[in-house]
Amino acid sequence: MDSLSKTTEATIRLAHADDQFIMASIAARANFDDDLFGKIIHPYREQYPEDMHIFWLKKFRKAWHNPYNLFLVSTVQHNGSELITGMAQWSRRGEHFNEYQALLKECLEPALPVNRAADPQMENLIERSGSYLPDLWTGDRFECWRLNGLAIDPVHQGNRHGTALVRYGLDLAAKENIAASVISAAKKEVAEGFYAKLGFKSIGIRAVDGEGNPLSGIEGGQIMFKDKQ
Ligand SMILES: CC(C)(COP(=O)(O)OP(=O)(O)OC[C@H]1O[C@@H](n2cnc3c(N)ncnc32)[C@H](O)[C@@H]1OP(=O)(O)O)[C@@H](O)C(=O)NCCC(=O)NCCS
Repeated sequence: MDSLSKTTEATIRLAHADDQFIMASIAARANFDDDLFGKIIHPYREQYPEDMHIFWLKKFRKAWHNPYNLFLVSTVQHNGSELITGMAQWSRRGEHFNEYQALLKECLEPALPVNRAADPQMENLIERSGSYLPDLWTGDRFECWRLNGLAIDPVHQGNRHGTALVRYGLDLAAKENIAASVISAAKKEVAEGFYAKLGFKSIGIRAVDGEGNPLSGIEGGQIMFKDKQ
């Protein structure tokens, strides 16, 4: 076993703007073989593996200036330096989030190089499927901490860094006594194993459902909630 994989307990801290590149690189590595983010959106990732992070860098930069988005990193100490092992994006959804989103909408297209690993027709697949997502964030779920992104460097997976990043947001939801939610990854084991262990429950609707949904046929996408107590 290499010395990195022995490091265990993570420290969670807020991400800084200059962590964005490493966060995006981790998201690319963690999702390399994912059906949606890997195979479908990035069919040329074997030829251009170094480009795949551009997809997440764009996503993070677009979300960065909305103060209701919370970016976290998990870290460990390695040879006296801090090493980032994973990242999470939590959003505090509700009226204020929507107001900021509307305000920032027009001015958030970051200038980044072309992502040669991606199929240009597929890069905005998730945005295109947005209108098929039923509005389940109503009533007691309107005010909600929503986990919008989570990735642990493959070298550090299995060390509970993912758990620590999720718990951070769940603690915030518990303090406010509001719901938390996530749309799980393609692998159904992530929903049934990882998120279920953290108390999330599938509601039987998937983000890939709905006639004409461009995500149709993709595995996973379970919409899960941990409701307020
Ligand atoms: C899924 C992911 C975030 C989990 O983080 P992690 O730090 O590796 O997981 P943890 O060590 O905190 O695991 C906690 C528990 O969940 C289980 N678990 C973790 N990943 C799992 C998976 N893919 N399938 C089934 N169970 C899983 C672990 O076995 C562990 O169970 P235990 O309590 O019985 O020991 C991480 O593996 C990852 O980045 N995967 C690729 C990207 C991804 O799927 N992101 C989620 C997007 S919604």
